[in-house]
Amino acid sequence: MNATNPSDVLLEVDNLHVSFTTHGGEVKAVRGVSFTLGKGETLAIVGESGCGKSVTARSITRLLPEISSKISEGSIRYKGRELTKLSEKQLRELRGSEISMIFQDAMTALNPTISIGEQIMEGIIRHQKISRAEARKQATEMLGLVGISNPEMRLKQYLHEFSGGMRQRIMIAIAAVCNPSVLIADEPTTALDVTIQAQIIELFKMLQTKTGVSIIIITHDLGVVANIADRVNVMYAGKVVEAGKVDELFYNPQHPYTKGLLASMPRLDTDKSLPLTPIAGTPPDLFAPPQGCAFAARCSYAMEVCGMYQPEQSAVSGSHSVACWLQDPRSQLVFQPPIRVTS
Ligand SMILES: Nc1ncnc2c1ncn2[C@@H]1O[C@H](COP(=O)(O)OP(=O)(O)O)[C@@H](O)[C@H]1O
Ligand code: SF4
Ligand SMILES: [Mg+2]
Repeated sequence: MNATNPSDVLLEVDNLHVSFTTHGGEVKAVRGVSFTLGKGETLAIVGESGCGKSVTARSITRLLPEISSKISEGSIRYKGRELTKLSEKQLRELRGSEISMIFQDAMTALNPTISIGEQIMEGIIRHQKISRAEARKQATEMLGLVGISNPEMRLKQYLHEFSGGMRQRIMIAIAAVCNPSVLIADEPTTALDVTIQAQIIELFKMLQTKTGVSIIIITHDLGVVANIADRVNVMYAGKVVEAGKVDELFYNPQHPYTKGLLASMPRLDTDKSLPLTPIAGTPPDLFAPPQGCAFAARCSYAMEVCGMYQPEQSAVSGSHSVACWLQDPRSQLVFQPPIRVTS
């Protein structure tokens, strides 16, 4: 469902399919994902581990293993330009200057053997063709902006000299220094303690207010979603099963999986005396995804049609859609009992 005002659409992912070739066969990691991202908007992607959130995000700037992965179908358009057709050289120009990624762990995403100043300046020099002195000035300003005090001195330091929260700030500085239009943050706060998590989310919001950047944030944390996102995609087994504005998803969830996810995750308004209810069962095997709804084996509402055909997206409102046979009037047509002709 396209919930963004069409004139404001920056990024449009349409029917994206991504698979991996492994020793065990072909893993169908992303199976027909569509969404849009508007200017200055924040989209959250949520769902259990292994449902295809990171692969979807990494497909956008193609940070996927070159040999084993394949975008087998679909399109990714950014400012009207088809990204799935870009060469590695064109992608390198796009990464950082137009679309930047932030990961969970700075120690593995960044280089611990190069000073942080050099790492911030590298992107600036690559994309802007300016002198080192000017790049150093920009790097110092950026480090100050992300909340690192005494930035001029700290540019000379290495990652291990910073705390976990500070490392995330540095990764955000590197990602944002060339003023990209889109920041994609893959579980940027998962490894941090709660107070630091909140500070990092505030930093994203500050950057967005200052630069108008659009954000895609992948998170397990519904508190983070409520705090920062405008819209949410709920993913399950490589598909978006429900999409809508944050309030629509939180207060009017339609998909049994979204309801289960909300019941299984802590929220600020959760009664702490009541136990959280995990969703029973496990996601399906993505080597051989089920013929019908991928959630059917875990769904207490499953009907016969659910096991036979994949549900399509139905509109709940202009900005809210769900892929579930419960919402699809055709489910009744499929299984109307045959008409008996009596003589
Ligand atoms: N490099 C890879 N090779 C093979 N399978 C992969 C690779 N990366 C991811 N996958 C598979 O793709 C599916 C989606 O993974 P991912 O997008 O990382 O999930 P998550 O929602 O936790 O971010 C999983 O089944 C995962 O095992
Ligand atoms: S389509 Fe059927 S099995 Fe799937 S979530 Fe809806 S009711 Fe449950
Ligand atoms: Mg992931």
